Amino acid sequence: MIKTLKDIPKLKGKRVLVRVDFNVPMKDGAVQDDTRMRQTLPTIQYLTDKGARVILVTHVGRPKGKIIEELRVEPIAKHLEKLLNQSVAYRDECVGENVTKAVETMQNGKILFLENCRFHPGEESCSEEFCRELSQLADIYVNDAFAASHRKHASTAGIAEHLPAYAGLLVEREIEFLTPLLDSDHKNLTLIIGGAKVDTKIGVLNTYIGKAGAILLGGALANTFLAAEGYNIGASKYEKEKIETARELMMLAEAKQQKMYLPVDAIVGDTISNQATAIDLPLEDIEGDMKILDIGKKTQVIYAEIIAESKCVVWNGPMGLYEYTPFASGTRAIATALASPNNQLKTYIGGGDTVDAINRCGIKEDEFTFVSTGGGATLEFLEGKKLPGIAALEK
Ligand code: 3PG
Repeated sequence: MIKTLKDIPKLKGKRVLVRVDFNVPMKDGAVQDDTRMRQTLPTIQYLTDKGARVILVTHVGRPKGKIIEELRVEPIAKHLEKLLNQSVAYRDECVGENVTKAVETMQNGKILFLENCRFHPGEESCSEEFCRELSQLADIYVNDAFAASHRKHASTAGIAEHLPAYAGLLVEREIEFLTPLLDSDHKNLTLIIGGAKVDTKIGVLNTYIGKAGAILLGGALANTFLAAEGYNIGASKYEKEKIETARELMMLAEAKQQKMYLPVDAIVGDTISNQATAIDLPLEDIEGDMKILDIGKKTQVIYAEIIAESKCVVWNGPMGLYEYTPFASGTRAIATALASPNNQLKTYIGGGDTVDAINRCGIKEDEFTFVSTGGGATLEFLEGKKLPGIAALEK
């Protein structure tokens, strides 16, 4: 049983270290998409309202234990100030004497934002020493970093050995919404998987093959499956070394009589740019140096029809290079079909790119049943794996 914020007996004056996942896209020192940050605000506000001293820690990027100037969290702390309309103190370290002093002088209800914890080599190795150092800053640990909970790192898992540990409101909500997808009648469930890489999606495909009503594939990931099926995919992006995996998954689907759909047509472009001319072609006509950059119109219609017949849809990964208008129609078609107001279906969206894509389509997040903040974490959760950051809260 996981304990949550309401199980904390007394918060006034307590030092609460909250692991958040503010690994958000940045450009020229500005936060590009603050979805993850906004979803953590209820936890931060709950704690500050109750008079706790809130110490926030996040990772950004993959600095591998070294300081990388562009990955400092100061601009994120500034952005948080605006979101909360409250001052947020920032320290350019995450442990050490200066941080300890800053914590000692904190007032109740105030917020301190520590430096990127992945600058410290002990974070990813989950070193006992770093876990202890972090834990000494606080009386209570709260995990609100669902998106990083599949990592067994010091700030996501190890620290929970040293402090009373609780799930934040975001983590509680993610578990509440995603858990039924593990036990529900999968025959009414359609799984839509796109994006670039096969690797991170193998687990979830394996889990749902034989259980889902339908599985729809798109993105560069689908190209690898098309190549495995023997299609000429021209010069399209695909993963040569994953062809065998794709073939095995297709064979598994056949053996389990799983309806697994691949695109029947594709959008190619003369360039990869917003000015590109997009051409819709049947797969058989792809040749030479053509690049598949989106699912074609026929595929969009087929996928939308399947969605309309489903009761529940789980979607992770865009259908094409949605960042460029000429190649955004496939992803937009899926997003629109899922957000359709006539439709009573339950819709679950996950993955940073997918969330970015629906935002760019101008579709509000509240038009979906649930938008998960996790990418890899959500996929692993749906595979039925125990996430180390959540397992640590159960102890
Ligand atoms: C994510 O963006 O999925 C999380 O922040 C985890 O990041 P990571 O894959 O670098 O651990």
